[in-house]
Amino acid sequence: MSTSTTGDTERPIRWGFLGAGGIADTMARTIAQTPGHEVVAVAARDPVRARAFADEHGALRAAGDYAELVEDPDVDAVYLNTTHAVHHEQLLVTIAAGKPVLCEKPLTLNADQAHAALSAARHHGVLAMEGMWMRCQPLIRRATQAAADGTIGEVVSVQARLGVRFPYDPTHRIFDAGNGGGALLDLGVYPAHLAWLFLGEPDTLQVTGCLAPTGVDAAVSLQWGYARGASAQVFCSSLGDAAPSALVVGTAGTITIDASFQDPPAITIATDAGEERVTSGRNGFQPELEEFARCLRAGAVESELVPHTHTVGVLQVLDAARLELGVKYPQESQIGQV
Ligand SMILES: NC(=O)c1ccc[n+]([C@@H]2O[C@H](COP(=O)([O-])OP(=O)(O)OC[C@H]3O[C@@H](n4cnc5c(N)ncnc54)[C@H](OP(=O)(O)O)[C@@H]3O)[C@@H](O)[C@H]2O)c1
Repeated sequence: MSTSTTGDTERPIRWGFLGAGGIADTMARTIAQTPGHEVVAVAARDPVRARAFADEHGALRAAGDYAELVEDPDVDAVYLNTTHAVHHEQLLVTIAAGKPVLCEKPLTLNADQAHAALSAARHHGVLAMEGMWMRCQPLIRRATQAAADGTIGEVVSVQARLGVRFPYDPTHRIFDAGNGGGALLDLGVYPAHLAWLFLGEPDTLQVTGCLAPTGVDAAVSLQWGYARGASAQVFCSSLGDAAPSALVVGTAGTITIDASFQDPPAITIATDAGEERVTSGRNGFQPELEEFARCLRAGAVESELVPHTHTVGVLQVLDAARLELGVKYPQESQIGQV
């Protein structure tokens, strides 16, 4: 077992990439522009592709074997960026090797898998964080702070949507049940996390949706209800584009989060006192990297910005929605089970 060094603030965090697909490229480019981080190794199922990715991004080592990467003593942390169907198994292997891990969203296919992986991380004292980068964004943090401190009164409604039109292709991961397909896990996880940030766990859930020919969910509307009278509307779709903007309604004002709410350029806080428009440059994955580094150096097993309970809780809601829609993955004996 290898143990990574985490306390040295002088040298960069040496990342090992488990997977070398689309989002890995974006993250590698972000790391290249973020002080205190570097990509040192990459593993892909195809060693030739791993080598090409390593060469392109200045990593020294390329492996055609994920096990080699997680055992590499010169890797401080793993960026797990494969498709979600394989996250659970790869998380367990990474955590058992003692490697801190930033795992792309959604953490796993379902809440049971997430709970098992995050329990393993806590057991091994290893930092594990879902790559829910939106939660680390300065303007999202500003918005949640404004709601928490009562600026807009009591939050009574959150409306959040994210639609991206994918031409139908049964082999694309968003339509492929064997690869964790479906709009809920790929897209809905964002508006669901956004609603959770302002309102927390819902008491009731109503689900309306339709399926793709492959049997995965294609467009879903969720109505979250709260005993205190609040509600959230969460919409996601792989059938049509819907700009990811969001509205938070309180008894004394509103917060409007401009598209794209994962990394908003602006938010507007409106109360009787007037409108405050707060803008920001786009931050991309940098705040997420900075939060991960902060946690790593603090010796934490979880980030307060992306708590394990919220990762599991959101997946519980998505499990319940899939149960209602009859969407079950081949990896599940029943919905929600490992
Ligand atoms: N944070 C964001 O903004 C964002 C954006 C897009 C995607 N994501 C998330 O990132 C993850 C990867 O998405 P992506 O668009 O990068 O996907 P992708 O390019 O289709 O695949 C990523 C990697 O997953 C592995 N993989 C793909 N299909 C597989 C299969 N059938 N069985 C086993 N492994 C498979 C491959 O690893 P090898 O390289 O080893 O072959 C591939 O390189 C997903 O969980 C997605 O939700 C996040």
